[in-house]
Amino acid sequence: MQITESYEGTIERTLYSREQIAAAIERLAREIAADHRGQPLMLLGVLKGALFVVTDLARAVAAVPDGPSEIIVDYMCVSSYGNATRSSGEVRLLKDTSEPVTGRNVVIVEDIVDNGLTLQYLQALLGERQPARLRSCVLFDKPYHRRVDVPVEYVGLQAPDEFVVGYGLDYQELFRNLPYLAQLKDAVFTRPEA
Ligand code: IMP
Repeated sequence: MQITESYEGTIERTLYSREQIAAAIERLAREIAADHRGQPLMLLGVLKGALFVVTDLARAVAAVPDGPSEIIVDYMCVSSYGNATRSSGEVRLLKDTSEPVTGRNVVIVEDIVDNGLTLQYLQALLGERQPARLRSCVLFDKPYHRRVDVPVEYVGLQAPDEFVVGYGLDYQELFRNLPYLAQLKDAVFTRPEA
């Protein structure tokens, strides 16, 4: 049995198909390319969640005619403390950028923004390093429980007020490799830990 088949009994519904996600990334790429026409761009993916977003986005931006003069792809790896489905905003920096952000046009690429604390932490941390410009891109927006007013210049798709998985988003490290965005069955959250 394939892994994706073994996930099937745990999925309540598909929220966005692979094609809908690809179309959203194409649109985000056009917006980012237009705002950085003729300028160097640093796309900074926030792992692990933005694993697929940043790779697909980097290629899509590069394919836009008259886009940035050059594209650097870098990543940070962070882990948010909190319970299984909500972050506390206390972020553990597991890996910093490889390249300096000072003087660069940086776009932070995040998988999802929920209460906003993780993105706020990253914007503050990177802002102190004096990039030429610092902007943020999130593929999925969950605006229902925002605790801070965090600026996001590029927003892909609205997610429902649910815990969602797939396309990089996990529940206890599983489901990241689903090619679509899904809502899990309630029973998954009440399952005793293995
Ligand atoms: P925030 O600090 O509440 O904005 O949440 C940011 C981080 O929490 C994201 O980068 C995700 O890693 C995680 N997160 C928030 N909502 C979800 C979800 O619905 N599914 C999976 N991860 C989520």
